[in-house]
Parts: sequence; C-alpha cells; structure tokens
Amino acid sequence: MALIALGICGGVGAYKAVEVARGLQKRHHEVVAVMTDAARHFVGPLTFEAITRRRVVTDQFEPGANANIEHIAIASDIALLLVVPATADIIGRFAAGIADDFLSSLYLATTAPVLMAPSMNVNMLAHPAVQRNLETLAARGVRFVEPGEGYLACGWMGKGRLAEPDAIVEVAERILRPAGPLRGRRLLVTAGPTYEDLDPVRYVGNRSSGRMGFALAAEAMRRGAEVVLVAGPTTVEPPAVTELVRVRRAAEMHAAVMDRAAGADAIVMAAAVADYTPAEAAAQKIGKTDGPMQLTLVRTPDILADLGRLRPSLPGQPVLVGFAAESEDVVNRAAAKRVKKKVDLIVANDVLQPGAGFDVDTNAVTIVGPDGAEAVPLQSKAAVAGVILDRVEALLEKKTGARK
Ligand code: CTP
Repeated sequence: MALIALGICGGVGAYKAVEVARGLQKRHHEVVAVMTDAARHFVGPLTFEAITRRRVVTDQFEPGANANIEHIAIASDIALLLVVPATADIIGRFAAGIADDFLSSLYLATTAPVLMAPSMNVNMLAHPAVQRNLETLAARGVRFVEPGEGYLACGWMGKGRLAEPDAIVEVAERILRPAGPLRGRRLLVTAGPTYEDLDPVRYVGNRSSGRMGFALAAEAMRRGAEVVLVAGPTTVEPPAVTELVRVRRAAEMHAAVMDRAAGADAIVMAAAVADYTPAEAAAQKIGKTDGPMQLTLVRTPDILADLGRLRPSLPGQPVLVGFAAESEDVVNRAAAKRVKKKVDLIVANDVLQPGAGFDVDTNAVTIVGPDGAEAVPLQSKAAVAGVILDRVEALLEKKTGARK
C-alpha cells in the first residue's frame, strides 16, 4: 500500500529490522532498505536485498547511482521513514541536522512522518545528551517506539532493548493508516463462497464471487480501519487488507472467524456460507454406477448465529452484520433472520432482481435494522459498501457513546 524507507543503523538489534521488513511486506507495504556503514557490521545488505527485492541503499556516493537525485527521489516517494534500530549516533545526527550519509540526508530531505525505534545501552539512553536529542526530535514531530526493559546485549539490565518487531510494525501501520472515520477500529469481513468437497475432484459450492465482501473490505480500509478479510475460494482478486485469511470449507471459515472475533469492533458476514456439507468426503474419486446417486449432506455450523449467541461474552461485543440471499418476501424473511441470529443489521439481497446479488459488479439491497428497512437502490457494490459502512459507523458511535 505504501513505500516505506527502513533505515538500519549499527546496533545489535539490526537483525530484528529483517523481521520488521517482513512484517511491513505482509501488510502489503513496499520497503526500501537504507543501511548506515555501521549497520553493515551487523547484517549484510544482501539479506535486505533478498527480502525487499530492491537494491539496498548503502552509500550516498555509490558509483552508478546519482546520489544527489536518489535521496531526493526516495525522500519524496516514501510515506514513512522508519529507523530500526535507532542508535544514539543517528538520534544525535538527526537532532543536529547533520547530513553526512544517505540516511541522515534522507531525514532532512523527506516530509514524510518519521518513526524511530531506539535501542542502546541503558546509560547511553539515560544520558542527558541523548535525552535532549530525543526531546528535540519529539518536538519536531518525530515519533518513537519505546525501547523495552530487560537484559541488554551489553550484559546490563535496564531500559534500552529494541521493541519487538510486531510492535514496531503495528505503530508504523497506525501512522500510515488514513485518518478516516473508522481509524482505530478493527473490522472482520467474510467474503465469497465455501466449497464443500465430495471427493478429490468435486465439490458443492455456490455462485458467490466475493465481490460484495471485497468491496466492503476495500471501503473499510479507505476509511482507516484495520481489516481482517476471511475469503472463500474465488478467482476475483481480493483488495489489500491488514490480514487476508484464505479458507475453503464452511468449517474452516467458522474456525477462522471464531479465532479472530474477540478483537473485532464489527463483523460483517458477507460470505455465502454453505448450509450443508457432504457427510463424508470420499478419499478417492467417486466412480459412476448405472443407478441414481444419493448424497447425504449434514448441516454446517451457522457462523453468524454462533457469533450472535457468543456476543455477550466477546470482549468489545462487536457490531454484527449479516447478509440474506432471498428470492421472495425479502424484508420479512430478513427481519426474522435478524432476530433469530441476534444481529444488528441484515443486508437482504433479492437474488432474482436483475443486476443484483451473485457474480455482478452491482447490487441492490435492503438493510434491515431494529428500526425498520432501508432500501438501497441498484448501484455499484463499492457504493453499496459505503452505505452499509455508514450504518456500521453509526452503530459503533452509538456503542462508544453508551460506554462513556
Ligand atoms: N451464514 C453463516 N453460516 C452459515 C450460513 C450462513 O454465517 N452456515 C451467514 C451468511 O454469511 C449470511 C447469513 O448467515 O450473513 C444469512 O445467510 P442465508 O444463507 O441467506 O441464510 P440462512 O440463515 O442460511 O437461511 P436460509 O438459507 O434458510 O434462507
């Protein structure tokens, strides 16, 4: 989603920058590694080149690269300058405005936000010179991931240990996320069909393409949310999200959703989950016989109903939104499902209406809530996603207000 310059300095924690680069990539960010001379004593540039699949910037005056232009080009392209580990030396050079290598020049040349993860000996960190430099940088808007306490590589105990890579990635992600109305919210969205296998070559499935769920996930990302997308098997390209979980069967989707439900502020079940699955999937391909064939199907777990039942015990008690694919008496049937499954909203699709429902780019729905039904006329799934998320936002605001 964004290009991040990862500045690596000469500290024992430099190897952890490798994990930070991987974590950022997992969240769909591009990383360009910028190493100081000292950093190269700890980790080789090849490691970062292999991971980032980009040339690693190691020298401002490298022959072949027009140095003066390159640091300006990177400076204007990046969405974040992240320094891991930030040593006392780089903190001092940034604070003083010294531009004697690529990384320190990049700091002066960029207008992108700057995030530093300091790591050093406990006494170095506590030294008034370092503390003053940190204050100077903080006053300029530079942000920090606090070092942790514990055993330091130098043998001392105390504050100075580099924060964990996951925590650094998390803070970076928070800075990069757009300041939308869903910033700070975590949404769990399901999309697509489920395939219930009969044997190694056949399955029972449905015509869902995942487009409605993908549109919801993409719009929630645009509004600044953290989005976990649990997607069934579909050939449509999913949007870039915070975490993408691929599943096949209803039982797998159930497990993936339940595992992640606790941290969610809202869960939107747009997936067309199979209601039945073969009682037993044959290990070998089923051959034909002369007579008719009978399949025994058994019920799958109803994920949405389980969420409705569990909600009172879930931390944060997420807003729950279900979908209902109907072909007759749409509003009444959706209203009944809302009550039965104990959810906040049911988005009802009339699957017989041309241009709506499965496998098309448009949709027309009716949103059934506690106060009645809102008809959303035929429009793009992206626009319908916007209307649904407006309703989710209103419910989240009401909940937060009630908690105050
Ligand atoms: N759903 C679910 N788990 C299932 C089946 C459905 O979580 N095993 C969810 C869907 O994701 C959707 C909602 O329940 O959000 C309604 O799905 P739908 O198939 O329309 O309704 P059903 O409850 O299955 O009722 P019926 O098929 O009888 O109309």
